[in-house]
Amino acid sequence: MKQVILIGFMGCGKSTVGIRLSYRIRRVVEDTDKRIEREQKMTVSEIFAEKGEAFFRDLETDLLRRMCEEKGEKIIATGGGLPLREENRNLLHKLGMVIYLRIQPENVYERLKNDTTRPLLQGEDPLGKIRKLLGERAGIYESAADVIIDVGEKNIEQILDEITEAIGYENFGN
Ligand code: S3P
Repeated sequence: MKQVILIGFMGCGKSTVGIRLSYRIRRVVEDTDKRIEREQKMTVSEIFAEKGEAFFRDLETDLLRRMCEEKGEKIIATGGGLPLREENRNLLHKLGMVIYLRIQPENVYERLKNDTTRPLLQGEDPLGKIRKLLGERAGIYESAADVIIDVGEKNIEQILDEITEAIGYENFGN
């Protein structure tokens, strides 16, 4: 196996799980949003506001293409909209094992109700926005995934146990 890739909706815990998993399996973790922000010298919110969502989506695809050429075994935490493009889903499968951290809208709302860094969830009726977007995306995330893990009510240790079991950690370079 090459990369371990975490996908899922905003607030499902991709970044946090990625960091904790990196300690467990002793691999570097890379976060696509953070790398884009570093490379563009702008936050995701600034990119959306000043250049538009389509520009951001092109940056995601460009980054994934480059990651396919890079060496090293990593954990990759992705932005929540990254698997929406078919090309991106194909690139993810080329990169490694895709793990979907599945969460319910109410859990997302509880986690993100005070968040200001997700441009797609700002403004009126955030729970309605979460329900609509997650409803549109759920099937796409499922079709992109090699493994699905329900995360809403679990603690981080349980989630890490399920991931390490799914990737067969005992059997690789441990
Ligand atoms: C997005 C999710 C965000 C970020 C951007 C768009 C999305 O990442 O990439 O705001 O379309 O779901 P997180 O999933 O890390 O919040």
